[in-house]
Amino acid sequence: MTDLSVQLGRLRLPNPVMTAAGCVGYGLEYAPLVDWAQAGALVVKTITLTPRAGNPPPRVAETPAGMLHAIGLQNEGVETFVLEILPRLRTLGTPLIVSIGGETVAEYRAVAGKLSQAEGITALEVNLACPDTEEGHAEFGLSSERTTQVIEAVRNATPLPLIAKLSPNGGDPVPIARAAVAAGAESLCLINSPWGMAVDAHTQRFRLATPIGGLSGPAIKPIALYHVWRVRQAMPETPLIGVGGICSWEDAVEFMLVGASAVQVGTAHYMHPQALMEILAGLRAYAESRQLERIEALVGALA
Ligand SMILES: Cc1cc2nc3c(=O)[nH]c(=O)nc-3n(C[C@H](O)[C@H](O)[C@H](O)COP(=O)(O)O)c2cc1C
Repeated sequence: MTDLSVQLGRLRLPNPVMTAAGCVGYGLEYAPLVDWAQAGALVVKTITLTPRAGNPPPRVAETPAGMLHAIGLQNEGVETFVLEILPRLRTLGTPLIVSIGGETVAEYRAVAGKLSQAEGITALEVNLACPDTEEGHAEFGLSSERTTQVIEAVRNATPLPLIAKLSPNGGDPVPIARAAVAAGAESLCLINSPWGMAVDAHTQRFRLATPIGGLSGPAIKPIALYHVWRVRQAMPETPLIGVGGICSWEDAVEFMLVGASAVQVGTAHYMHPQALMEILAGLRAYAESRQLERIEALVGALA
């Protein structure tokens, strides 16, 4: 039997397949359909300091081989999350990784601080794709300086293991990746959604109200694979989590071969709620058919 457990800095997960932030909400909506206890981890949607209603509709649009989304970080806010949602998540029996966001450095710090006082959180994933209202960057993660400030602030506010989730919208990911690790991130998650847009020729309107959104699904897999490979080449010691268009166990293997120690599954759940479970089962069967002692033998084999 292959040992499926993986190590990401201080974080040890029972297997390398987890959800991608936001794509299954808090996970509770799917709990009647999916046994999350089998997942490597459940990554909960981005939580902010105060409740957010999100963007006006329409905020999702189907595209060839993917979808555009502009949810606008809709969430209940950290206090309701800790009091009402977290106790229910704890009963699922899976490691919980909470994604955090903010519009200011102080907001990230405050959310991290409040979550560290709560029971049952395994790690924090810092969503650097939030708009930076203090300095006007479309995303914090487009600036090395702002990335450093956010990660340092969060690092000082929590003893929990920290994952920095990087944006693909800034060109070469390596300078931002280095800034995040130097500031205290123990692992990196690549990638958040590349920006895109959709227009309806019939109505002559944008298909998203915003009108810019994040593209996800199979359409972005080659971009995500490249980002993981690129960062692995430059920073072979840093554990990486690959995300973007993963729909099959073969996709998961490909991400591991170019350097991901673990993977996240997002949009695939909209086509198939059992996607994560099937990817995990396929990965296990693949590793056993190749008589791997440890799944980690795949990590970076092609990098
Ligand atoms: C509807 C939706 C909501 C999302 N919400 C979040 C979020 O709250 N925080 C975050 O970091 N990423 C969020 N993402 C991005 C995903 O976590 C993931 O990085 C991206 O969708 C690429 O993976 P995929 O192609 O497997 O979906 C969201 C994506 C979608 C489609």
